[in-house]
Amino acid sequence: MDELKPNGVTGVEIDGRTVALYLIDGEVFATHGICTHALAFLADGFVDGGTIECPLHQGMFDIRSGKALCSPVTKDLETYSAKVEEGEVFVDLD
Ligand code: FES
Repeated sequence: MDELKPNGVTGVEIDGRTVALYLIDGEVFATHGICTHALAFLADGFVDGGTIECPLHQGMFDIRSGKALCSPVTKDLETYSAKVEEGEVFVDLD
């Protein structure tokens, strides 16, 4: 949990899957780490409030719901439930 940037995004690999972890106002969220538009790592993107902006073509997603918010992204982002226990982040990929 200490590795997460407050109000930012951090990229991790979990079971071979690229995942983006967010720490928003002290709460942890997780989404798939690759944009649904093309091959861009969201960990290189920009967090603004509850949204993540893709670094490649500036498409935006809602971090909590994964909803695609603006062109050119049209496909929602997969989201995962995440929790913190004793300082460790747990992500449920199912
Ligand atoms: Fe993300 Fe194009 S790759 S908006």
